[in-house]
Amino acid sequence: MDRFLIRGGKKLHGTVHISGSKNAALPILVATLLTDEKCILHRVPNLRDVRTTLKILEYLGKKITYQNNTVTIEANGQLKNDLPYELVKQMRASFWVAGPLLARFKEAQIPLPGGCAIGVRPVDIHLKGFEKLGASCETQAGNVLIRAEKLVPAKIVLRFPSVGATQNLLMCACLIEGETVLENVAKEPEIDDVISFLTKMGARIRIGEKGNLIVQGVKTLHGAEHTVVADRIESGSFMLAAAATRGDVTVADCVPEHNAILLEDLQEAGFTLTVGKDSVRVHAYDGEIKPLRICTAPYPGFATDLQAPWMTLMTLCTGTAEVDEAVFENRFMHAPELVRMGAQISTEKSLARVTGVKKLSAAHVQSSDLRGGFALVIAGLCAEGETEVERVYHIDRGYEKLEEKLTALGADIRRYNPDKNEF
Ligand code: EPZ
Repeated sequence: MDRFLIRGGKKLHGTVHISGSKNAALPILVATLLTDEKCILHRVPNLRDVRTTLKILEYLGKKITYQNNTVTIEANGQLKNDLPYELVKQMRASFWVAGPLLARFKEAQIPLPGGCAIGVRPVDIHLKGFEKLGASCETQAGNVLIRAEKLVPAKIVLRFPSVGATQNLLMCACLIEGETVLENVAKEPEIDDVISFLTKMGARIRIGEKGNLIVQGVKTLHGAEHTVVADRIESGSFMLAAAATRGDVTVADCVPEHNAILLEDLQEAGFTLTVGKDSVRVHAYDGEIKPLRICTAPYPGFATDLQAPWMTLMTLCTGTAEVDEAVFENRFMHAPELVRMGAQISTEKSLARVTGVKKLSAAHVQSSDLRGGFALVIAGLCAEGETEVERVYHIDRGYEKLEEKLTALGADIRRYNPDKNEF
């Protein structure tokens, strides 16, 4: 399995161009199941999770072409409405095919997505919503069979603004005659991008005064063309890498307001930023990094996906910072690996206390999840010596051409496969 070898101590400098959002591309790809007509999607990042989603669409019966970040999806005969565990276990988000398949075929048989390193990740909010829409959900042998004689419009209040449940229920409601209202929904920018794509397909969705989603179901949806929004987690990750290495980096082709909280926190920690229409420049800063207390929350709060990269920055603060992970129950796996690199971190339940150190030192570390892996890459970029990051496949799920982008910013990072002794 691939590893990264990183020789640290270099300040990143230059410009990095942000890719399309993984967490918008995945649901938008799934939404093409709502029509048999051709859809064309641009700025689809070439990532492991995207390739897994394309495999799922092909399995279900779509014809796919994918080149230069453009995906063309066409019908290829009758769609299936069941998924094999082999595909679902690779990526939890595959569960989001349930909504479109239920809407079109009144039945979907999907393996329950297992948990993952960051938590149990149940789908109760998804299933309760489908039941409100008139479906029955029977779980047996690790699968869930969701079916309905007739789907009915409903008012659904999500007990937590789950991103996936919002998207799954929204896609289903688009084809249910009548008015469905979704309350306490996720408000992440990726949801807006899904709504934009669904609207181009002919869906009738409006956002109510309290942020509710009000859907007037239609009989059919047609094909559409769409360009995926910039990846706010990638842009935030690179801003943090620039800051931690004391570099001077312009993060281009991004949407600054999607990182509003992070920009505020970076400036409060002492960094100077120049914010443009579609770029953020992190200026070189050699002063003290002030310790902050952050708490992750649904958008527009501090993004849970940036918690790990942020923690790496705080390992170099002056004082003791606090990181409260309030969205997932087990998202500190990067902490013990950072401690092995000389960081001083103690965790208790959802709270991590990070006492800053002068320097991190290179070590052989393992990533356990996508964003924790990026946190270790940032630590390697800062540490004196050569850091080896194992299980790069986690990182490949969400960062397109990562070593190319970092090398272009002056980092010394190489991908290495010890099994093949190959660089
Ligand atoms: C999406 O996951 C993202 N994934 C995650 O990004 C992101 O961390 C998460 O939203 C939160 O922003 C994709 O978009 C593909 P949730 P999702 O449902 O939809 C609990 C990354 O690194 N919950 O909003 O699965 C759940 O356990 C990934 O790119 C229930 O209890 O997240 C969690 O504690 C990681 N029951 C919280 O809600 C449910 O039915 C938030 O989960 C659903 C969720």
